[in-house]
Amino acid sequence: MRILPETALTYDDVLLVPQYSNVDSRRALSTKSPLTKKIILQAPIISANMDVVTESEMAITMAREGGIGIIHRFMTIAEQARQIERVKKAESFIVENPLTMSDQRTVGDVRRVVEETDTGGILILDQNEKLIGIVTTRDLLFEYSDDKLLTEIMTRKVHTAPPDTSLKEAERILHEHRIEKLPLVNHEGKVVGLITLKDIMKTTQYPKATKDAKGRLAVGAAVGVRDKEMRRVEAALQAGADCIVVDIAHGDSQLELDMLKNIRKHFPEAQIIGGNVATADGTKRLIDAGVDAVKVGVGPGSICVTRQVAGSGVPQLTAVIECAEAARASGTPIVADGGIRYPGDVAKAIAAGAQTVMIGSLLAGTDESPGMIMTRRGHRYKASRGMASLAANIERNKREGNDLSREEIEEYVAEGVEAAVPYRGKARETLTQLIGGLQSGMSYSGAKTIEEFQEKALFVRMTGSGLKESGPHDVEVLG
Ligand code: XMP
Repeated sequence: MRILPETALTYDDVLLVPQYSNVDSRRALSTKSPLTKKIILQAPIISANMDVVTESEMAITMAREGGIGIIHRFMTIAEQARQIERVKKAESFIVENPLTMSDQRTVGDVRRVVEETDTGGILILDQNEKLIGIVTTRDLLFEYSDDKLLTEIMTRKVHTAPPDTSLKEAERILHEHRIEKLPLVNHEGKVVGLITLKDIMKTTQYPKATKDAKGRLAVGAAVGVRDKEMRRVEAALQAGADCIVVDIAHGDSQLELDMLKNIRKHFPEAQIIGGNVATADGTKRLIDAGVDAVKVGVGPGSICVTRQVAGSGVPQLTAVIECAEAARASGTPIVADGGIRYPGDVAKAIAAGAQTVMIGSLLAGTDESPGMIMTRRGHRYKASRGMASLAANIERNKREGNDLSREEIEEYVAEGVEAAVPYRGKARETLTQLIGGLQSGMSYSGAKTIEEFQEKALFVRMTGSGLKESGPHDVEVLG
C-alpha cells in the first residue's frame, strides 16, 4: 500500500484568480480548441455518449453550435449507423445522390416525384446516363399536360462543375449565372452530386458549425471493446462518423489497449478517442497505443457511483491536470469528461489543461435529448441515468434478446443511478451559457485564446466557506 502525498481537488475546491486583462469584448473571444489531432471545434463542448443524451437530434445541434455529439452505443449497429447518417444528411452543401430521371419519362412522372420527395428539381439523363437537362418546380408551374416528354420542357443549357468544387467556387458559379442548382459531373459526364443555393444558405446560418471535408456536420460514434465491436467501428466509419470513442469505464486496461490496436490496424486513418483514464500513466499508455485524444474522468459524473461502489477514482480537477501534463509533449488533446455543473466548471476544466469537455446530465435536460418531459409537483424534468445503472443494464440485455433472471439482476453491481434532471429548454441555450462562462473565465485571466488561458491560469484553493460565498447566499433566489 502507498498513499500519495498530494490532496486531490475538484472544480468546487478551486477558483481562477482574476488577472490583468485587456480584453474588450468577452463574447468575441475565440474558444477554438482541438477535439482530436485533426478535428477542431469552435465551441469545445461534446455531448456525452449516453442513451439519455446523444442521438442524432442532439448531435445535429451540437455540431451546428460548434461542438460535437457522440452517438451512444446502446443500440444495434444498424441503428447507430442510421443515426450517424441522419446527422450527415442534415446539412450538406453537396447532395450526394441527386434525383435523376430518364429523358423518356413524362411531366406527370416528374410531378409525382417532386410531390413525394419535396425536391426542387430533377436532373434529366440520356440513354447513356449523361446529363442533358434539368427540370425544376418552376418549369412545372404552367405545364398542364402530364403526357409531355421531359425533353420538351427541360432546360437544356445546364451549368455544371467538377466533383471537387469547393463551396466558394460553387457560390461564385451560381452567382455568375444567376442559377440555383449546380450539378457536379465527372470526366465521363456522369452526375456525382448537386449543389443547391438553398443548401449553401443553410450552411451559412451556423457559422461556427463543426463540419467534415464534404461540408457535412461532424459526429462521433461510441463503441465497446469486445471483438464483435469491430463491426460497429466499420459501420460507423462507413456511415461517415468523424471519430470513434472507445467507451469503457476503466480505460487503463488491456481490453481497451487491444481494441485500440485493432482499430488502428484496420482503420489507420480513423480519429480515435480513448478512455476513460484518471492518471498520467494511463494517459501515456493510451497515447502509446495511438489515440488521437484521451478522455479523462473516473467517477466525476452526476449519475456515477463508481467512487462509492468501487472506492476508486480521482477528483476531476486533479485528474485533468495530471493527464494534461502527461499528454502535453505528444500534443494529444484531453477531453474532461463528467462533473460539469456550472459554466465556470468548463472554464476551470479547460484552464486545467483539457482541450474540450464532455457533458452528460446538463444536456440530458434539453429538448434535443431522447426521452419525454415529465412533470412532478409543477416542475418539469427529463430523465438521466448512468450507463452502468441497473435500469440501463436490464434494457441493454433485453435489446440483445437476453431477459435477465432475478438472480442476474440481484448480482449486478451498478455503478450508476437513475435520475431526473430539471428540464432546460433548447440545448442551444445551455451551450450559450457554457461557452459564455468559458469566455468570461478567459477574460478574467486576461487570455484571448484557449492556449493563452492555459498558460496564464492561476488557481487558488478555497475552503467550504469560500465555496459557500461563491454561490448566492443570504437571499431567497427567485429565478
Ligand atoms: P455528467 O456529470 O456530465 O457526466 O452527467 C457524464 C459522464 O458520466 C460518465 N458516466 C458514468 N460513470 N457510471 C459511471 O461511473 C455510470 O453509470 C455512468 N454513465 C455515464 C460518462 O463518462 C459520461 O460522459
